[in-house]
Amino acid sequence: SASDKGGWDSFMDKEIHEDPSAVRNTLIGRFDEDGEIKLDEVHIDAEAFRQIDKIIVVACGTASYAGMVAKYAIEHWVRIPVEIELAHEFRYRDPILTPRTLVVAISQSGETMDTLMALRHAREQGSRVLAICNTQGSTIPRESDAVLYTHAGPEIAVASTKAFVAQIVAAYLLGLYLAQVKCTLYRDEIHQILDQLKQMPEKIQWVLDHEAESINDAASKMINAKSFLFLGRHVGYPVAMEGALKLKEIAYTFTEGFAAGELKHGPIALVEEGEPVVVIVPSSRGRNVLHNKVISAIEEVKARGAFTIAVAEVGDPDAEKYADIVFWRPECPTLLSPLVDVVPLQLLALDMAELKGYDVDKPRNLAKSVTVE
Ligand code: G6P
Repeated sequence: SASDKGGWDSFMDKEIHEDPSAVRNTLIGRFDEDGEIKLDEVHIDAEAFRQIDKIIVVACGTASYAGMVAKYAIEHWVRIPVEIELAHEFRYRDPILTPRTLVVAISQSGETMDTLMALRHAREQGSRVLAICNTQGSTIPRESDAVLYTHAGPEIAVASTKAFVAQIVAAYLLGLYLAQVKCTLYRDEIHQILDQLKQMPEKIQWVLDHEAESINDAASKMINAKSFLFLGRHVGYPVAMEGALKLKEIAYTFTEGFAAGELKHGPIALVEEGEPVVVIVPSSRGRNVLHNKVISAIEEVKARGAFTIAVAEVGDPDAEKYADIVFWRPECPTLLSPLVDVVPLQLLALDMAELKGYDVDKPRNLAKSVTVE
């Protein structure tokens, strides 16, 4: 059944291995073979969507990082501003909401009180709220104007894993749908992105099948580290934040995730001999300028004695050259890379927590869904 571990040591282990199916199932039935997105379940008509001129994502924890990833894609595809707001900060600062603002509440459980209060506030101010949620019939979708369900299946482990990749996919489908109704992308472009999305489950599977050993190696080498730094740029930035969150949640390691460009503005002061630094490296293909900038970040921390772990695209010669350990991931478009880049970070947190002998499914002090403000 969905609520037993089915041979895995923990629910978290099982759920990380369900990342591919979470992505696959969230795509099913949302578009036809011509690449036309069909969100018939979302009862907001196309005309209302055409009018949307701003998106505000409200969420907490992992769901907020999925929203941050989606900002990069939706702004690029739809050319409207996307803001991400932690739900508990949103309501108390008098946010600017109009009937043309779409508030997207992302929540795995659908019961997070902070997120629920934020969406109630948005609706009172006359904005439409669309929920991206993994739990049928929960409070957040019931109180929203519309819901786009993630089909990750029940998530039992407290630390969210498969729900994260499913939330990114759902938010991307929403973005592509907006691009379709607002005609900001050609039909062919949407079709191509959908084809690329369809290939992501097997790319995630490749990471699960090939990288477990080097991830475990990194975890055992760094088992006594007091802290970890995570850095990334562009979509790698929210992935770094999510990797840092996983490790603090279940391995109780002090972590910080930050934008690689910010390194020289502060965090580099933290780097001393042996400090583990995990770096999400963008693809080097297509003369991507960010690739070299992130590689120099690795060189800078390495020069100060850091133990560097890179998540990089297969065949990246610079990652191989500069990082102490590389977690490889298959080639994929930049905007889709978070779906694979996060996977080794989920496994790293799991391995670290297991090596330390912690209960990975029920970390201390945390609840799966926080139903108080
Ligand atoms: C809690 C959980 C986190 C989760 C957050 C948001 O803090 O421990 O894992 O990311 O709530 O939960 P939600 O159900 O709204 O996605």
